[in-house]
Amino acid sequence: MNKLFSLLCFLVMGYYLCAQDLNFNASWKFYNDKAQGAEQITFDDSKWRNLDLPHDWAIEGPFDVKYNARAGGLPFHGTGWYRKHFKMEANTKGKVVRLEFEGAMYNAHVWINGELVGHRPYGYIGFEFDISNYLKYDGSDNVVAVRLTPEDLSSRWYPGAGLYRSVWLKIDNPIHVGQWGTYIVTPTVTEKLAVVQNETTVINNSNENTSVTVKHEYIDPDGKTVATVEDSIEVEAHSKAVSAVWNNIENPKIWDIGVPNLYNVITTLSANGKITDTYKSRIGLRSIRYTKDGFFLNNKLVRFNGVCIHHDNGSLGAAVYKRADERKLQIMIDMGVNAIRTSHNPPSREFLEACDELGLVVLDEAFDVWKMEKVPNGYNKFFDEWAERDLKDMILRDRNHPSVIMWSTGNEIIEQRDRKNGWKVAKMLHDVCKETDPTRPSTMGMNNYINPYTFNFAQQVDIAGMNYKPTKYSEIRDMFPELPLYGSETSSCTSSRGVYHLPIEKYQTHESKHVTSYDLIGPPWAYPPDVEFHFQEQNPYVMGEFIWTGFDYLGEPTPYGGKDNSTNGYWNADWPSHGSYFGAVDLCGFPKDRFFLYQSQWSTKPMIHLLPHWNWKGMEGQTIPVYCYTNCDSAELFVNGKSMGKKVKGKDLTELKVDFLRYEPKTFQSKYRLSWNVPYEAGSIKVVGYKDGKVVQEEQINTAGKPAKISLSVDRAEINADGSDLAYVTIRIEDKDGNLCPNANNLVNFSVKGAGELIAVDNGDQTSLESFQAPHRKAFSGMCLAILKASETSGNITLSAKSKSLRSAKITVLSK
Ligand code: GAL
Repeated sequence: MNKLFSLLCFLVMGYYLCAQDLNFNASWKFYNDKAQGAEQITFDDSKWRNLDLPHDWAIEGPFDVKYNARAGGLPFHGTGWYRKHFKMEANTKGKVVRLEFEGAMYNAHVWINGELVGHRPYGYIGFEFDISNYLKYDGSDNVVAVRLTPEDLSSRWYPGAGLYRSVWLKIDNPIHVGQWGTYIVTPTVTEKLAVVQNETTVINNSNENTSVTVKHEYIDPDGKTVATVEDSIEVEAHSKAVSAVWNNIENPKIWDIGVPNLYNVITTLSANGKITDTYKSRIGLRSIRYTKDGFFLNNKLVRFNGVCIHHDNGSLGAAVYKRADERKLQIMIDMGVNAIRTSHNPPSREFLEACDELGLVVLDEAFDVWKMEKVPNGYNKFFDEWAERDLKDMILRDRNHPSVIMWSTGNEIIEQRDRKNGWKVAKMLHDVCKETDPTRPSTMGMNNYINPYTFNFAQQVDIAGMNYKPTKYSEIRDMFPELPLYGSETSSCTSSRGVYHLPIEKYQTHESKHVTSYDLIGPPWAYPPDVEFHFQEQNPYVMGEFIWTGFDYLGEPTPYGGKDNSTNGYWNADWPSHGSYFGAVDLCGFPKDRFFLYQSQWSTKPMIHLLPHWNWKGMEGQTIPVYCYTNCDSAELFVNGKSMGKKVKGKDLTELKVDFLRYEPKTFQSKYRLSWNVPYEAGSIKVVGYKDGKVVQEEQINTAGKPAKISLSVDRAEINADGSDLAYVTIRIEDKDGNLCPNANNLVNFSVKGAGELIAVDNGDQTSLESFQAPHRKAFSGMCLAILKASETSGNITLSAKSKSLRSAKITVLSK
């Protein structure tokens, strides 16, 4: 599936001998409406828009109150057509030609030369069709036409729309490795030895029963071939067979959290003395095990410092860019994260590859809904016909990833309430998991306590996940001492980056529709991170937690728009609020305060963080709550150099008045934050953190003066000139001394020169209706973001940023 690998095959072994996976993302035609006869080869698409994939039409907007804020307030439903013209070489006749879509959002119908070749409703699942018999090999045009018909009220978050993942044209000899055709697992991994088991599905599309040699070469992370295994199998004509072999790898380089050792496996098929296929897989050698007392990776107990993540890439929408996924995960690792839950759908291939490459464990989730609906046009419509197949295909695609450690069959499934039949559906899906991959446990995120346990529902998965039930952990343990347990969804605290309203507002009441960032506010079912920390500590057999959420995402703008009380819209009561407030990080990837609260708990690297900002003109003398999140033992606060006292973590508790409505008690003492109440005076606040009596960390926040200049920084100075790599430029509005102006909302204009383009802008404001594609953006809490995409030509990319009455700035990225 790798472009370079295909090219190498082509060069090394010659066209006849080798399979080709051709990236099919370039040069599509697109039309965003119904189009009569658009599946026909002769249809005139000359006036349609030209574009390359991946493409999400909905992210182009515009935002409008007529679209549901719950799904992002963007036009993700309707009809979208994609067409592509292509020619087949005469010498590909007789080969097996498959068209693979890694995901199509959603309800895809695919035609080749006017004939329907297939249909796949679920937008998050990959699929392929054998199109060999529909093609013309005489040098004339072939046309693939794809119709997508996503419906309104079909998702609880922003799903995106379009061919938002990659498409591949795969040309194979009749004898080849099947789709997701290798299944490579590691039944034993110790420091001395890894036992590797490899089951490879060989397809024989020829008219002859054939004896096929299957050879696997295992290449270690340093590029050294460490094992070669051969097998020979008989495959009947127009049939398939599985070659099953195992071997040892001595002194294995073990894959682990933060230790992403990856092995390549090159599988070569030969028949009648000729190589017919070469297929690459990537694996990691690691062992997993779970007991009622915890989860073990490589025989070490692992507690999940996890986050739930939705699939969108913020201002890029659902469109998949490897770098966007990788950056997202790097930011999470910086927070101390070691585990990801792909809420609530199969992620992109790139996402899992990045998890493998960064050393994160993954809970791979299939569904948010089964047969009983959450929204009227959700997956419930397809469940009966497709659920088994979709779940199985997710596992077949993902089961070689070392990062994947559990299969989740669902989230907060309504069938939890169905005393009579719920468990049967749960069992059916669990059985699919076990048949397809017995090496990983099945799981589910459940919220309907106590039903899942008393209705024989939680018992239908290997490991039950509880959403938002920290106070029940010990009760569950007492009742069901043998059942393993973890927090599949926790906290759901809300905030807007850099926003502090004083006095702190009540839930859902601020006219700005932003949420104060003291990490004290959330919907009724939620609670501050501190509560989960406490109950995790009290109940060490709980395997850890997955917070809701690592990143803000598009849609589900709780607490603004979290309920249906509007007359002319569905979930738009609090328009223009249209994006989530749940993230520890905003939509741009900029950390909110909560990021540091998690970091203080999950990371051992000394850190300290102070909040709020120190620009409170007009509030001189009034009390400002100041919080410090740190993993130091103690910290001392200074206002304009004057000590406000030293506080010791665990001893000096912080009284939190939380606004989570149903959570009792509403006031509680947290040992996870340090706090002071200090009268405001302009100048600076500084916190000094001590460990074992020594100063290890400091942070100072100055009262910023007037906005004077723009400052730019980029996540990477060099990127790849491959047409899809990205550079993320952070824009800060600063005073003349370089202090962030925390309330600045200046409009910044961008222009780009050189070997790349500006593809998106954002500022993390959940209420902003500005276009993500505009060459300008207002700052929000003093910051905004510009995303540059490399072209395929190397060279410098220079971004200029200008704003009225501010000193402008430029930054250059090398693309090569
Ligand atoms: C959960 C749900 C998530 C999200 C979250 C918001 O109940 O599983 O998908 O909606 O609430 O707090």
